[in-house]
Amino acid sequence: MAILVTGGLGYIGSHTVVELINNGFEVVIVDDLSNSERFILNNIEEITGKKPVFYPFDLRRKELLTQVFDAHRIDGCINFAASKAVGESQLKPVDYYENNLFSLINILQEFKKREISNLIFSSSCTVYGQADVMPIDENTPLKMPESVYGKTKQMGEEILIDFAKAYGRKVSLLRYFNPIGAHPSGKIGELPIGIPNNLVPYVMQTAAGIREKLSIWGDDYPTEDGTAVRDYIYVVDLAKAHVAALKKLMSDQSGETLIDTYNLGTGRGSSVLEVVKAFEKANAVEVPYQICERREGDITIAYADPAKAEKELGWKSETPLEESLRTTWEWQKYLNSRNS
Ligand code: NAD
Ligand code: WQD
Repeated sequence: MAILVTGGLGYIGSHTVVELINNGFEVVIVDDLSNSERFILNNIEEITGKKPVFYPFDLRRKELLTQVFDAHRIDGCINFAASKAVGESQLKPVDYYENNLFSLINILQEFKKREISNLIFSSSCTVYGQADVMPIDENTPLKMPESVYGKTKQMGEEILIDFAKAYGRKVSLLRYFNPIGAHPSGKIGELPIGIPNNLVPYVMQTAAGIREKLSIWGDDYPTEDGTAVRDYIYVVDLAKAHVAALKKLMSDQSGETLIDTYNLGTGRGSSVLEVVKAFEKANAVEVPYQICERREGDITIAYADPAKAEKELGWKSETPLEESLRTTWEWQKYLNSRNS
């Protein structure tokens, strides 16, 4: 029995593979390396002592995916594979719809054919847009996201709900808030390909001198210090939530449709300035910054109510912000050592 992890060499996928192996699961990875690198596979082996089976191909290649399902007894799948750059998704909408939705549909076709259940989907807090009430629980009304990327997440959820209902299958929709940090070993983390869009990778590169200055997008938000607020969750905690969600799906033997939905965050909001200060303090480094205009499409505030995940999965994010940011810096040091 194996768990298929698509996008398993990516940022959240690689951390989840480590946790799955630590929990005794056999893992099969499919990743086309479009946003990851092969050395991550070796580092997963260094961390866990086990090398997962790895297939380097694009999930849109249906015939290759069929071969993977033929070769292994797949008992569930965590589907991380997707393109995730919000700005790019506006410029390349058709590519984003194709990659994010065709990959998912190809997996579902295999599940349908083979009577497999247990599918976990990487969704996002972006499906809530700017919610009216904080913290955001799972009953918060969804708003069709502005970005094409966000729409692929909302559509992906809808496709999975229809799939589960029609064929009596079990799915878990995990809505991540803002994942940050790296594995404590410093050997896997978020690979900075190009100029980072997200806050923490940009802060990391600014501290390392790769970027001159961080631009803080807006200090006129109606928040305590004027900068926008998000819920930054440590990636290893997030990875552990996947194992808990998978175990819950697998333990349900009712044979009935099961659609789980969980918000995965810490329950605590942090402003951009707080993150910058916490990074400086955790790592005794300076992060030069300038205040700029607001970034188009940004919301003011979002943080999770993680109570449902705690109650039903027995899972809770426990790592403090500074500790997560310390691992980010360890990861940057590791990348520096690889480049030198
Ligand atoms: P990532 O880019 O690091 O990982 C995705 C992996 O999927 C990469 O290794 C990439 O090479 C692979 N991939 C992409 N398209 C593929 C395809 N067609 N076939 C095979 N492999 C393919 O991203 P991540 O940050 O680890 O995100 C994982 C998932 O979580 C994504 O679905 C993303 O949308 C979702 N998510 C991420 C965040 C975040 O802030 N990082 C927040 C919410 C949701
Ligand atoms: C966080 C805060 C920025 C960079 C995006 C996606 C969302 C989700 C996570 C996947 C904001 C500010 C950032 C910088 C800054 N991904 N910032 N200077 O905006 O919450 O969400 O990533 O599903 O879909 O939209 O995350 O890390 O980009 O920004 O001031 O250089 O940091 O304005 O307030 P965000 P982020």
